Order: sequence, then structure tokens, then C-alpha cells
Amino acid sequence: MALNLVSTKDSQALWQKKERYVPRAVSPLAPFIISEGRGAIVRDLEGREYIDLTGGWGCLNVGYSHPRVVRAIQEQAAKFTHTDCSVIMYDVYIELAERLSQLAPGPSPKKAIFFNSGAEAVENAVKIARSYTKRKAVVVFDGAFHGRTFLALSMTHKAKPYKEHFAPFASDIYRMPFPNPYRHWMDFKHWERQLLTLVNPDEIACVVFEPIQGEGGFIVPQEGFLKFLREFTHKHGIVLVADEIQTGIGRTGKFYAYEHFGIEPDLITLAKSLAAGMPLSAVVGVQRVMDAPGEGAVGGTYVGNPVACAAALAVLDIVEEERLLERAVALGDYMRSRFLQMQKKYALIGDVRGLGAMIAIELVKDRQTKEPASEETLAVIQECLAQGVLIAKAGLYGNVIRMLIPLVIQDAELKRGLDAIESAIAKVSR
Ligand SMILES: Cc1ncc(COP(=O)(O)O)c(C=O)c1O
Repeated sequence: MALNLVSTKDSQALWQKKERYVPRAVSPLAPFIISEGRGAIVRDLEGREYIDLTGGWGCLNVGYSHPRVVRAIQEQAAKFTHTDCSVIMYDVYIELAERLSQLAPGPSPKKAIFFNSGAEAVENAVKIARSYTKRKAVVVFDGAFHGRTFLALSMTHKAKPYKEHFAPFASDIYRMPFPNPYRHWMDFKHWERQLLTLVNPDEIACVVFEPIQGEGGFIVPQEGFLKFLREFTHKHGIVLVADEIQTGIGRTGKFYAYEHFGIEPDLITLAKSLAAGMPLSAVVGVQRVMDAPGEGAVGGTYVGNPVACAAALAVLDIVEEERLLERAVALGDYMRSRFLQMQKKYALIGDVRGLGAMIAIELVKDRQTKEPASEETLAVIQECLAQGVLIAKAGLYGNVIRMLIPLVIQDAELKRGLDAIESAIAKVSR
């Protein structure tokens, strides 16, 4: 990787400027400023190298600056960067809609529409579901994260740092327990009875779920729950929305994570790795539901930007040609086996879980009580940073370490990353 350090870009001076001109809400995990990134490796302005196991918060399944993505962006930018698709339509939008629809298994024909961010995709999925059902209520889950705009934020669970002082929130949102096999066993019939005490099913427009909760702590739902949810929503004419913003684009070893569970949702939201970090999100869904809103009813000035669509088409080519679904499974097997070995040695690791490369460990102070080890998790993250490895936490109690690695990571890089995590856990355990 060629280093191109500009001497005037002194890190310290830049950090001082950041403190002066950027509000404190923008508080990065990494204590450095990036000069460039390739694959899973980033370099700071001084040329120091770090392994990024956060993948830019799960946006970089194809890694930093994949040459194919860079080329697609350059070529599209040279043609045109914007038209507003409600003024002039373009080829990359249509091709991407076709490919994402065809990649979504299930008997019903699909369509796709594009937006800018994950939150926007979630909000539009709710609008489409309301338009289709002519109902208001939205059901979400404990531990859910759906974004930070007001409807999406109302659907998100965690108060701190996301919701504190931002009320009032949207109405007609009902939060239900998510079955977390590590912490409790759920009786699905009881879940149904509980929901029916809150809201009449004839008033529910949609149930929005993450096939594996991301921010909530990489929780793979109890076996059978998503099938139960599909049957329940079918029975009552409710639109089922899979939020695949974190699980999608191959992270779990399938292109869409819902494929693991033998169900077909009505709507699917995608963002993050869809366009390798370029601002692009999508709602993919069953044609009759997708066609409910009338002409011009959903949209936005920048939605489905052509440069971002071109990047997304390159991402889909890379996933296919570099066999990233198989790679996700292999990486996941390796991470799981390393974490299970660590779990035998360190009582701090209460649970190892996930699907494909979407793997996490939950840290607890005591394996019996399962008391969350939140401070210890922070200490592990800090220790990894000191060793040049970036890792991300998750979970309502911030006691889960989640792997959002680029799927193009080299074996040796992942080994170095896991060695750093192990030595950090050993140190914190002492
Ligand atoms: C499952 C899920 N939904 C929605 C979002 C919100 O996406 P964005 O931050 O692009 O608005 C996220 C972001 O982390 C997410 O993980």
C-alpha cells in the first residue's frame, strides 16, 4: 500500500481542530485519523497500520477501497453523478433493482426501491406497509436498532446514547420481547397472548425484526421463532419486515440472513455493505406490497444515487466472483473455534454465538448469574486498540464484542486480530 503522507496534515493539529469545530456527538472509536484503507487494513497519518475488525460498522464486507468498487465509482462519476430518479431514470438503478430482487429467494416476485441510509429504508418500509394494509401499528422488539431518524429512533430500543433527551417519539409502536436463547427460553404462544393484550392484530401494519439482532448483541433468535412470526403475521394480514441492514450482503453466509430460517418476509431493508459504505439503502419486497404507495408517494432528492448504485453493482459482482458467501462461512468457523477455545480458558466469556461471519462473544462477570461485564468489555476494546486492532461492542449492556470483519480479510490478519483479542481478554481477566 503506497503511503502518501502530507506533512502539513499533522494529526495532533487536526484532532485539535476536530475538538474545536466538530460537536462532541461525533466521537470516534479510533484515536487516530485515517490516511487510507485497503481490505481490512487502515493506516493513520503517521503510517501506522491497524486491523479494522469493525469493517466501518459493518459497511465493508468487500473491504476498504476494493479496486472494482473504486473503478465503478470513477466510471459512473465521469458519466453523471446525479439526475434525481424522479426526473430522469438511469440504467444502474434498474439493474440493481433487478439483481437484488432476483437474489431474494421465495415464491413471490420482488421489486426494489432505493434510499440513502438504513434509517430511511426502515421508515419507508413502514410507509409501504401502512399504505398496503391501511393500518397504523408497528411492532418491534426489545434490543432492536433501526436507526436514528424519528420514526426509526422510536423503533430503536436503547435509551443511551440514542434516545436520551430526544422525546417525544412516534406513537403506535409496540415493543415485544425478542427470544434470546442465552438468557431465557420463550413460549411463543405466550408471546402472542402478550402482544394481543397490547394491540388488536387488525390494527398492526407491520412487524419489523432483525433476523439476527445486530446492535442488540448478535442474538440469533430461538429456533422456530421466525417461522412462528411468519405464521402469526400471515394469519392477521400483517406485513413482515426483515431489517437486514447489518445481516445482509452475505455476512451470515447467505446473501440475505432470512434464508437461514425458511421464511419469506414481505419486505427487506438493506444498507451498510450494500454499496461498500457509499450512502445507499434499499427496500426489497413482494411486488403487490411494494406497489401499494402511489406515484411519487415515496422518494427523496438523492435517493438511489447513480454513483452509489454503480458501487453496489460492483459489490454484487465481488460477492459472486470472490465467493464471499463461502468465505463468510469459513471465516465464521475459524472465529467460532478460536472463541470457543478462549471460552474454555476465560470465565469472562459467557457465550459464543452467531451465524456465518456474524460472530460475537458475550462477556459476563459470573457465568451463573450472567451479570453483564460492561467495564471489562470496554477494557478489552481499549487493550485491542493499543495493539492496533479495532473491535466493536454491542448489546443493551455494552458487554458483547461483535465481529463485523471485512469478508476479504486475509487469514493472517484475522489471526493477528484474534490473537490481540485473546491477549486482551487474558489481561482483563487477570
Ligand atoms: C439493523 C439496523 N437497522 C438500521 C440501521 C440504521 O442504519 P443507518 O445508520 O444507515 O441509518 C442500522 C445501523 O446500524 C442497523 O444495524
